[in-house]
Amino acid sequence: MPAPVYIWSKVTRYFHWILVVCIAITFISSAFENAFLIHISFGVIAGGLLTFRLLWGFIGPFYALFRNFDFSFRDLFYYFTKLFKDKKTYIGHNPAASWATILLIIFGFFCTLSGVVLLGAQEDRGVFSFLHPQLTPTALKIHIISKNIVGIVAIVHIVGALLEHFWHKSDTVTSMIHGYKNIETQPTKTTNLQNYLGVFAIVFSLFIGLFSYFFPQTSIMTKNYHEIKYVNDNPIFAKECSECHNLYSPTFMTKAMWEIALENEKEHFKKDLRKDVPHFKSIKKYILKNSAKTSDTEISIGIIKSTKDKIKYRITKTRYWRDIHKQIPRNAYKHPLIKSKSNCKACHKSFGKTNYINDEDISLEYFSNKEAIEIYLKLN
Ligand code: HEC
Ligand code: HEC
Repeated sequence: MPAPVYIWSKVTRYFHWILVVCIAITFISSAFENAFLIHISFGVIAGGLLTFRLLWGFIGPFYALFRNFDFSFRDLFYYFTKLFKDKKTYIGHNPAASWATILLIIFGFFCTLSGVVLLGAQEDRGVFSFLHPQLTPTALKIHIISKNIVGIVAIVHIVGALLEHFWHKSDTVTSMIHGYKNIETQPTKTTNLQNYLGVFAIVFSLFIGLFSYFFPQTSIMTKNYHEIKYVNDNPIFAKECSECHNLYSPTFMTKAMWEIALENEKEHFKKDLRKDVPHFKSIKKYILKNSAKTSDTEISIGIIKSTKDKIKYRITKTRYWRDIHKQIPRNAYKHPLIKSKSNCKACHKSFGKTNYINDEDISLEYFSNKEAIEIYLKLN
């Protein structure tokens, strides 16, 4: 047997195993709702590492370079057809590992990118919080597709590695631990610059991941509300329009809906606002100026979409509202403390102050335990 030759540099090996841990943790944590922060933090580390690995494929040591990978389909076919038979030894990445590595890098990178876009567009958090929520469905699709590809490739890669190790008794797996393979070839060499760069990239990735975890409020999880507090923004509107019910944000309805709710229906649910509400004209102007069109919250976008072809004059009559509340049993609104679908504050605790409806403060306290459990089960 030939003497062991150094093939995998330290940086390549550390990168490999830290990435394995990160991918495993992001997959596991995605199954638990309360592990969201862990999911994101390790996703961030993986993203940093993958960006580095992309670069490493061009400037790294010999066996880590993409141009020394084996991307030939013929070799790949040969590799798989001979999987259980005679076995050729490969010096660097075998054809399957070459493909696995490049697919994992590309789709892992897409996964991280779509993840942070999603965090920004959907949750208004992190560096991409300026993005429009309309990007959410696309980002989600990319996130799920690339996640599935990463999952499948990782499993094939692991099965392949186990086969190499136990069936062919090759040193492929152990070489990724200590760096050596029993093969006749030139050992890998890394320059000082490569080492510094590699160490820096790994440490930096770990740093931003751990920072995200321990200081979520200052980093990825900063909620970048474009919040409007109506008491400050327009105290007259805030006061007059909450006389009889909780304050509805102008952004919750389209201009056309407001026209009907405020004016056309002279009797605003049997109340004549023009008569009853002081400063009605200026309030109306303020409302129309700040209607759903000016807002990028989920509810505004949903309402606009669902009233495109048919104008409804009530939020609760829109398809959007009905769709998000369809899990709630009809008779729930008959509860004496809820009374009406329009009593948003009964279930949305912080309703009526701003243009936001937080999904964190939904309350089911007015329901009997049995009813609450029923709703809870339906929601989940
Ligand atoms: C004199 C009492 C009164 C005042 C003042 C009043 N409203 Fe209303 N409003 C009502 C009633 C009653 C309803 C029907 C509530 C229900 O069905 O539960 C209603 C319903 C609404 C709805 C419909 C909610 C839904 O279900 O979609 C909106 C929006 C609304 N009001 C906005 C306003 C605005 C904006 C102002 C300030 C200009 C205002 N209201 C002032 C009595 C009032
Ligand atoms: C009987 C309780 C109840 C009432 C009343 C109610 N909601 Fe909800 N709402 C819920 C629940 C529960 C959810 C969560 C649904 C889910 O996640 O599937 C929800 C979800 C929402 C969401 C999505 C929030 C998010 O971030 O996911 C919006 C927006 C919303 N409601 C708006 C309203 C408005 C506006 C009103 C008043 C016109 C209202 N709701 C009245 C119970 C209620």
